[in-house]
Amino acid sequence: MNSSTQETTKPKKKGGLAGITAGQTAIATVGKEGKGLTYRGYSIYDLAEHSTFEEVAHLLLVGHLPNQSELDEFKTQLRANRAIPEELCSALRDIPADAHPMDVLRTGCSMLGVLEPEKSFADQQRVALRMLGAFPSILLYWYRFKNGGTKIDFASEQDSIAGYFLEKLHGKNPDETHVRAMDVSLILYAEHEFNASTFTARVCTATLSDQYSAITGAIGTLRGPLHGGANEAAMELIEKFDNPDVAETGLMKMLAEKQLIMGFGHRVYTVSDPRNEVIKSWAEKLSHQVGDTVLYPVSVRIAEVMWREKKLFPNLDFFSASAYHFMGIPTPMFTPIFVLSRVAGWCAHIFEQRSNNKLIRPGAEYIGPDDQKYVPLSERS
Ligand code: COA
Repeated sequence: MNSSTQETTKPKKKGGLAGITAGQTAIATVGKEGKGLTYRGYSIYDLAEHSTFEEVAHLLLVGHLPNQSELDEFKTQLRANRAIPEELCSALRDIPADAHPMDVLRTGCSMLGVLEPEKSFADQQRVALRMLGAFPSILLYWYRFKNGGTKIDFASEQDSIAGYFLEKLHGKNPDETHVRAMDVSLILYAEHEFNASTFTARVCTATLSDQYSAITGAIGTLRGPLHGGANEAAMELIEKFDNPDVAETGLMKMLAEKQLIMGFGHRVYTVSDPRNEVIKSWAEKLSHQVGDTVLYPVSVRIAEVMWREKKLFPNLDFFSASAYHFMGIPTPMFTPIFVLSRVAGWCAHIFEQRSNNKLIRPGAEYIGPDDQKYVPLSERS
């Protein structure tokens, strides 16, 4: 597959820093003409087809694709970072069962930073691997404890993050197709240039703060439905409809009411999201595997209507939703999975920011009142 040359960076509307180049990066290109989506110069299509998430994480964090011995060592370190301390387990047990898992991850990340602070910037690779290794454990320790009272252990034969996540979520050996589908999804979610959560991490980093603080802020930013939270909202939409015709009628009504349809549109891409065709083909494959005759056809019809009516295309979040659903993943876990992957991209940006740092502090155009006469408190009406 070739990356599309149709995407452009032309801003659609003023505001929100649209179309502003806010800094330099050697980590990714998003929607650049002739380049599409690349991680350190590699096409997302090649990575999704031939690579594994761990290779991609190494590419992002270390700067090159690993050879076999580098990959083995990298995976060994990730596995060694899966176990989390009892103080953190105890804190997780205290979080209510009805908490959103994104709040759990945000809190877990922050707590890990309390227990194992980043001592110096020389420590940054260790901290990045710690988060990559520990985040699935944080999420699933809480989830399984609150759903069945199981205190999961962190031992596993699974050597990939995808396999480990699925094994600990379901408490059994994962299906191999699911492991690969999850692995591809993690590759697609790993990095995306100066998106809102990455920018948050860079702004925090630029104050010379620590890596846990930057990632905690990034998780909070990703949580919103205009960003990572869109995959959960997309699932809730898709599940409302019993068949494609009902979906079309429902969608037309929502569009007439000027509702936002989650999982569509993008700040940078204008014609398509290159990640969509990859995740869509996995959603279709998984749909056949589970004998689905509703959710995938409904999703396809929603995408057709959105293009016909609004010239809006599905972004990565839209077909990720049904793909995850077919793997038996509960909807509130969708955005947290995004975190398990994007932490690699976030940390790569933290390293890059630190390597050539300048405080990020833009100016603002003042539009408030001038020349206000101060009235003492006792004289105010
Ligand atoms: N559903 C309905 N209309 C949409 C839309 C969507 N998903 N996305 C954009 N539009 C409309 C906007 O309302 C706007 O219409 P207007 O000109 O009449 O006001 C027009 O398309 C242009 O969009 P704009 O708001 O300028 O885009 P943006 O760059 O500020 O926002 C997103 C980009 C991603 C925030 C936006 O497309 C969106 O909210 N999508 C849904 C959330 C989502 O999927 N997020 C994940 C992104 S990867």
